[in-house]
Amino acid sequence: MKENKYSKIEQAISEYWSENHNNKFDVSSPVVRLHEPTFNSDEIIAFTKQMLTTNVTMGKTVKEFEEKYARSYGYKYGVSNNSGSSANLLMLSALTSSITENNLKKGDEIILPALTWSTTVWPVIQCGLIPVYIDCELDTFNMDPDKIEEAVSSKTKAIFSVPIYGNPCNMDAILSICEKHNLMLIEDCCESMGATYKGKSVGSFGRVGSFSFYYSHHITTLEGGICVTDDFDLAEMMRIIRAHGWIRQVEDKEKWTKKHPDFDPKFLFVNEGYNLRITEPQASMGLIQIDKLDGFIEKRISNASNYRSSFSKYSDFFSFQETTKDAKNSHFGFPFVVKKNNFFNRDEICKYLNDNGIETRPIIAGNIARQPANNLFDHRISGKLLNSDNIMDNGFSIGVHQSLCAESIEYVKEVFDNFFKERKAN
Ligand SMILES: Cc1ncc(COP(=O)(O)O)c(C=O)c1O
Repeated sequence: MKENKYSKIEQAISEYWSENHNNKFDVSSPVVRLHEPTFNSDEIIAFTKQMLTTNVTMGKTVKEFEEKYARSYGYKYGVSNNSGSSANLLMLSALTSSITENNLKKGDEIILPALTWSTTVWPVIQCGLIPVYIDCELDTFNMDPDKIEEAVSSKTKAIFSVPIYGNPCNMDAILSICEKHNLMLIEDCCESMGATYKGKSVGSFGRVGSFSFYYSHHITTLEGGICVTDDFDLAEMMRIIRAHGWIRQVEDKEKWTKKHPDFDPKFLFVNEGYNLRITEPQASMGLIQIDKLDGFIEKRISNASNYRSSFSKYSDFFSFQETTKDAKNSHFGFPFVVKKNNFFNRDEICKYLNDNGIETRPIIAGNIARQPANNLFDHRISGKLLNSDNIMDNGFSIGVHQSLCAESIEYVKEVFDNFFKERKAN
C-alpha cells in the first residue's frame, strides 16, 4: 500500500519533470545560461521521500552522505554543513579553538589570494586572524607562489589556498613554502569540486579543505557545504562547532564525558559554536548527486576544450585560463580576460552576448581587496594586485556546465563570430 503510493508520487514527479524541464535549445528564442540545475526528478523524489519520513534534522542520511563524499574523493572525514561559506567558518573556527592542538591564534596572519570570493575572507576576520592579500597569476588565475613567498612575515602562520574556477593551484610549490616557513595549509575548494593535482583531490593537501554544494556549483544540495580532513580531532571539533558547541554529534563522546562527569552528557557544551547544520532531505539528494559528479565534470572538460580550441583564433583579444601543469581542471565556468585593443572593451562584448541571450558574469567578484568592506577590519596587502585588478576590470565568464548541448555551444561560437565581424576586428 505504502509502496504503491510512493510509486505514484515517483511517477507524478518524473512526468512533471520531463514535461516541464526538457532543456532543449530553442532556436527561435536562444538562451544560454550560466547554470542549469544539476538535479532532476531523481533528487526531487529522494528529497520528497525523506520529507515524508518526517526525519528531517541532521541524522543518519547526513552521516551517510558525508562518508560517501569523503570515500569517493580520498578524504578520511567529511563534516557537512549548510554552505561553502559556513564550511570556511567552521574549519577556521575549529582551527582557532583554544582546545585544538597546533591551533591558530588571534592576530596570526593568513596569506590568501585577492582574487577570491568574499566568504574566503570574512571567516578569517570573524576568527580574529589577519588576511594578507596577494596577487594571482594571469594565466592560471591562482595565487602566485613567488608572491606568497614575498608576503611571509614573522606573524604569518597559514596559507589559505583557493583553486580558482576549478583550476588546482601549484600544490608542490605551495607545500614547499609551507614546509620552509612552517605554515599550515588550509584549502577553500568551494568552486573546484572534482579537481585534482597529480591525481590527488584538491582539499586533501592541507590540514583541512572546504567545498560548496550551492545550486550553481558542480553538484548541489540546494545550499550546502562540506569540510574534509584526515585529522580526527579537528573533524570532531567541527562536529561540535557545527551544532551549538555541544557533543551530540561527535564520534568519541567518552573523551568529553570523562573530562566533565558532572554534566548531563546529552547537554554537554565544550566549545562555543553555531548552528550550521544541513538537513536530511538535502543529504538524500546529495547522495544521488555524488554519483553524477564525475560525468558532469567530464562534460565540463569537453565543453571547455571545445570553446578553447574555437576561440583560440581570438587570442589577440582575449587571454584564457591555463590549466595548471599536472592538474585536472573541473571548470566552474569559461573565463575570458579582454586584452587592451582598439575594437571593444569587456562591457561592450558582455552587452552584445547578453542581448543575444548568452548570460555572463564577472570572474568570481574580482579583486576582493578593493571592496569597501575592507575598510572595516585589519588586513595587509602584499605587493601590487595588478593581475587581480586586470581580471576584475576586464574579465567575464560564460557557462560551461553539463547541460550545454551541441546546438547551444555552436550558437555561442556563432554569436562571438558575429560580434567580431560587426566590430571588423577579424
Ligand atoms: C572560493 C569560494 N569560497 C566560498 C564560496 C561560498 O560558497 P557558498 O555560496 O556555498 O556559501 C564560494 C562560492 O562560490 C567560492 O567561490
